[in-house]
Amino acid sequence: MYTNILTSQDNGITTITINRPSKLNALNKETIQELHAAFRVADLDADTKVIILTGSGEKAFVAGADISEFASFSVTEGQQLAAKGQELLFDYVANLSTPVIAAVNGFALGGGLELAMAAHFRIASENAKMGLPEVSLGVIPGYGGTQRLPQLIGKGRAMEMIMTAGMIDANQALQYGLINYTTTQEELIPLATKLAGKITRNSSIAIGAAIKAVNAVYEDGVNGYQVEIEQFGNCFGTEDFKEGTQAFLEKRKANFPGK
Ligand code: COA
Repeated sequence: MYTNILTSQDNGITTITINRPSKLNALNKETIQELHAAFRVADLDADTKVIILTGSGEKAFVAGADISEFASFSVTEGQQLAAKGQELLFDYVANLSTPVIAAVNGFALGGGLELAMAAHFRIASENAKMGLPEVSLGVIPGYGGTQRLPQLIGKGRAMEMIMTAGMIDANQALQYGLINYTTTQEELIPLATKLAGKITRNSSIAIGAAIKAVNAVYEDGVNGYQVEIEQFGNCFGTEDFKEGTQAFLEKRKANFPGK
């Protein structure tokens, strides 16, 4: 069905694997469109409670946007490239109501790190290397990297990473708070699956509301406390809330309908 990605579903978890290993999973236009489609399908699928995003092969998560595609672009085309990519994939993932865990299995550079940062949280294998090398190509990050990196690790560290175009390893990323855990390559997907499993047991409706409220921290001109009040209130009208509170009072495990 797709050319550059693989998808699978098991136990409430959809795994989306970027599968262009000969180009280190670099994001060309087609891959971005396919990822948009796959995220949309997973988000609309009532059986998908969590999405794991990873790269195929042992070397790369994603080695960036496909440089060969934009090398001859004009100013206008450059702007369109960034705008379209942010709309179709990076903002789309960040605002998805289904949680997305990025399992970074190798190089996450440029658009690759930006994609991992658009996910709701990240884990990485010990061989992973992360960076925003765009200024070494005479350009800047265009898929949200200048915004999300400072949000995640602070301005000074982000400025250093962006200006030096250097890479950090998984331990440094852990210390910076860019990733939540680091593990061996073999244990990466099992760890992602374990974390996803914990999430699947909770109310997917409440989790979607929590994503909206947390994301409001970073939206200009939006009062996040107000968004929290609205989302909190909305939960009281859901079947999940009735089931969750009832199950607690009846001293049993909740079985959320996801509505
Ligand atoms: N865009 C297009 N193609 C890319 C790519 C990218 N971002 N990253 C890697 N590739 C391709 C290479 O051109 C090469 O293709 P080829 O075999 O047809 O020549 C293939 O993937 C393997 O990459 P290679 O550079 O040979 O691997 P390496 O192990 O020597 O180096 C990297 C790995 C990640 C250090 C190196 O590929 C690299 O620097 N990539 C670009 C990273 C970058 O600047 N990303 C930001 C883009 S805005």
